[in-house]
Amino acid sequence: MSMPDTSVPRRLLLGSTAAAAAGGLLTGFGAGRMRAQAATTEQAPTGPGFRSFHGQYQSGIIDDQQQHAVFVGWDLNWREGSKKQQLQALLQMLSDDAARLMSGRGVLADTEPEMALPPSELTLTVGLGQSLLDVTGYGKVGAMPAFAGDELKEQYPQSDLLIQFCSQDPTVLHHAVRAVSKNLRELTSQRFVQTGFMRPMPGKETFRNLFGQVDGINNPADQVREQAVFGDGQNSWIPNGTTLALRRFEMDLDRWDEVDVAGRDFALGRRQSDGSPLSGSSIDDAVDLSAENELGLPSIAANAHVALAKPGHGGETIHRRGYNFDDGQHSGLLFASYQRDARSSFIPVQHRLAAADALNTWLTPVGSALYAILPGIAEGGYLGQQLFG
Ligand code: HEM
Repeated sequence: MSMPDTSVPRRLLLGSTAAAAAGGLLTGFGAGRMRAQAATTEQAPTGPGFRSFHGQYQSGIIDDQQQHAVFVGWDLNWREGSKKQQLQALLQMLSDDAARLMSGRGVLADTEPEMALPPSELTLTVGLGQSLLDVTGYGKVGAMPAFAGDELKEQYPQSDLLIQFCSQDPTVLHHAVRAVSKNLRELTSQRFVQTGFMRPMPGKETFRNLFGQVDGINNPADQVREQAVFGDGQNSWIPNGTTLALRRFEMDLDRWDEVDVAGRDFALGRRQSDGSPLSGSSIDDAVDLSAENELGLPSIAANAHVALAKPGHGGETIHRRGYNFDDGQHSGLLFASYQRDARSSFIPVQHRLAAADALNTWLTPVGSALYAILPGIAEGGYLGQQLFG
């Protein structure tokens, strides 16, 4: 059973403008470091239901996709003094929060620590926008470019900071998002909260998206996935780090309803019924763009989604980890993909799709952002420590 922590509330230490101004606490990071160490010296529970906070990579990237996710974006409220030190203190604090929550404990001064247990495979995956990389002077991932057809809405912008929260339990997830958000309240301004859900198909890393299609079939697996996402230490912005492309696509489901089965399958290049490619008969068959049908025409049209999305070469491979969303007004796909270098993979693929994908008829991109995902850390460390030399 997790016990409430009786330490001094962290918002008093780091969150209050008055306290920070009086003590200069935000620019120093001793308090944050003490907390990170306190969190990490306790033995982290392992076993089913727990994902590790410590490791070579952050969790929530190449490990199995949980059924529920919340992506939250914040901008930093800078105070006087060194931005680099403020960012460092914030990352130490977040590391402490993430380590505690992923091991089923509340954050410091948590008002509902009981809600953290069991964590139900909770992961917090932390990323920085280029604006924060610039503060550290380390690395470049750049900004997400504009794509044809974008109709971006102000409520889904690029943010300085992003956390992808995932869990099998939406209650645990809600608590984790709220606990972290409360701790960040005075240090940041929240820019968006995007909630998603999916249900894996039995025995597979696939799910039905809200068009009804089987999604995730040709995601890379095992070593190919790891290589696509993290590379060999040379071809990512930082060893053991990666990038996240986050795009929000609204689906026009009323107009999709009007499309018959053949039209739907043609637009995707796979059958909605069982996910098999139009160039084969089983879901395990390859997407063969040279295959022809009985009329001598390509089985998969040149502008079908899978034809344009298929990596042109190994360097274009991405790992998709997206979620369905329904915010009450709109529904669609919260597209999320991890790749070691978005500039040579996600971005060219997205340009191809934006220009000609047959699915575009029913899709509107309304949100778009790119993040540098921090490397994993060993016990006793904090996320982002490699950026501070
Ligand atoms: C709402 C938007 C989207 C929907 C509904 C969608 C749906 C699908 C579906 C159903 C498949 C076939 C099954 C599979 O292999 O996963 C697929 C494949 C794929 N999609 Fe998307 N997708 C969307 C956006 C994107 C975007 C933005 C990208 C990247 C820029 C992308 C990249 C891919 C890739 C790489 C494949 C595998 C192609 C192959 O090698 O066979 N998709 N998508």
